[in-house]
Amino acid sequence: MKTYLVTGAAGFIGCHFAKKISALGENLVVLDNLSYAGNLQNLEGIKHKFIKGDIRDQMLVIKILREEQIDFLVNFAAESHVDNSIKAPENFIQTNIVGTYNLLTCALSYWQERKHDFRFLHISTDEVFGSLNKADPKFNEETPYRPNSPYSASKAASDHLVRAWFETYGLPVITTNCSNNFGPNQHREKLIPTIIRNALDGKTIPIYGDGQNIRDWIFVGDHVDGIYTALHRGHVGETYCFGGDCEKTNLDLANEICTMLDELKPRADGKSYREQIKFVTDRLGHDKRYAISNAKVEHELGFKISKLFTERLRETIQWFLVNF
Ligand SMILES: NC(=O)c1ccc[n+]([C@@H]2O[C@H](COP(=O)([O-])OP(=O)(O)OC[C@H]3O[C@@H](n4cnc5c(N)ncnc54)[C@H](O)[C@@H]3O)[C@@H](O)[C@H]2O)c1
Repeated sequence: MKTYLVTGAAGFIGCHFAKKISALGENLVVLDNLSYAGNLQNLEGIKHKFIKGDIRDQMLVIKILREEQIDFLVNFAAESHVDNSIKAPENFIQTNIVGTYNLLTCALSYWQERKHDFRFLHISTDEVFGSLNKADPKFNEETPYRPNSPYSASKAASDHLVRAWFETYGLPVITTNCSNNFGPNQHREKLIPTIIRNALDGKTIPIYGDGQNIRDWIFVGDHVDGIYTALHRGHVGETYCFGGDCEKTNLDLANEICTMLDELKPRADGKSYREQIKFVTDRLGHDKRYAISNAKVEHELGFKISKLFTERLRETIQWFLVNF
């Protein structure tokens, strides 16, 4: 039995990874400072040891690594919302950059004294690659970094630190870069939960700019399956890109959700939720298009998307109808 330290597992993607680890019967230790984005309910029913704390706390992180004899450190802890990073970048610098630096420093000391198997997997985003035009090829593991927001710049910095700890010290690291996730437990501030919630509350469904920005959507369960495989079958020092092979404009996505809601929970007045969609002032520095190639992970890790986007979207909406 292996022991996993999963940081940020009270958040959206981390809780799905935690669920997978506990279902496999492995030992799970969660470190999360329960920021506004952390929710202990996300961990209900998952066998784990919870430690409330900050990834920047050196004494705490090294103590956990030693006392729990951690085999795998998987880092989900982050400030993750672009809009917040535009309004207040400081927390992003602290958690995403300083926090990752601290985890790397602690992991290196621990790994050097332990002298046997250990892996550090860092979760990152496709946003580090910047923005694509419509005709550009998808991002892949070789794409140069060109982050545009304080969020993506802080994630890019953390990815560079992870790479440097491998190149300089040989720390066994792996980095994954993924496209936009969706699914149960996602924080209400993010696009899909916002569309669903505002639709049901009878409020405006806000869509930035002209709604033509394109995102590549991946179901969270597929992402965590990919992370697990990369952790166990991936090569140390490598990066792996995961995408949903599902590019959609924000407007098409909003329309699709409204159409499903019309069927699952029709408006009392019989009109479509689409009537609530309104364009709002665009996000500053709004990236036009993200799309990411799965070629490497399909070839090297046997990665596959498990179900059609529409099936996963329906499951997600059904979850929110019960859990909002
Ligand atoms: N959500 C996406 O679409 C997406 C896509 C690609 C990559 N990612 C990356 O995946 C990771 C997880 O994203 P998410 O959407 O689950 O985020 P989230 O905001 O839902 O959860 C983040 C978690 O980290 C915790 N946390 C924040 N600061 C901390 C600190 N200093 N110390 C300890 N814990 C802290 C929070 O309490 C929360 O539980 C992030 O690194 C993000 O960049 C997210």
